[in-house]
Amino acid sequence: MEALRIMIDEHQSLAAILHAIRMMLRDIASGTLQPDMGLLRAMVHYLDAYPEKRHHPKEDQFIFALLRQRTAEGAAAVQRYADGEPGGLEGFVAAFEAFAAFYRDHMMREEREILPLVHKHFTAEDWAIANAGFAGSADPLGGTRTPEAPEDFARIFSRLVAAAPAPIGLGAGPYKEL
Ligand SMILES: [Fe+2]
Repeated sequence: MEALRIMIDEHQSLAAILHAIRMMLRDIASGTLQPDMGLLRAMVHYLDAYPEKRHHPKEDQFIFALLRQRTAEGAAAVQRYADGEPGGLEGFVAAFEAFAAFYRDHMMREEREILPLVHKHFTAEDWAIANAGFAGSADPLGGTRTPEAPEDFARIFSRLVAAAPAPIGLGAGPYKEL
């Protein structure tokens, strides 16, 4: 079950950044917040790179692939899940909203459709593989940095939260690149 707790934690990190960007865009549009382009750029990069390099590969390898082996019911749900858009502030808001909608859908489908099937069909062996994979103990280096994913996303996330304006974040901005 540890794998699913980590998966949902990761969804919450993504949701937190999506929420922070939405609030910042709203305040920038109303003129109450000066845009911190470095921070926005870093947040968008996080949303792009973190799921791509870490979250989705783990889900694919340690949840979906195992579930497909256990049940055709799972295969259909995973396939439905796999079948899943772009100047000025308005263009960015529109692109962001499309992206946010995609992610809300991703998280809702996984948590409401896929996870119940995992609970129903996973064997003890499946759980052991998934838990080890999600906990990162399958990483031979045992650290947060691997050759395929050299970015330390936990550190980037903390820096984004620190730099984001209060009450979304801690208001320590402007964001500085690592
Ligand atoms: Fe996910």
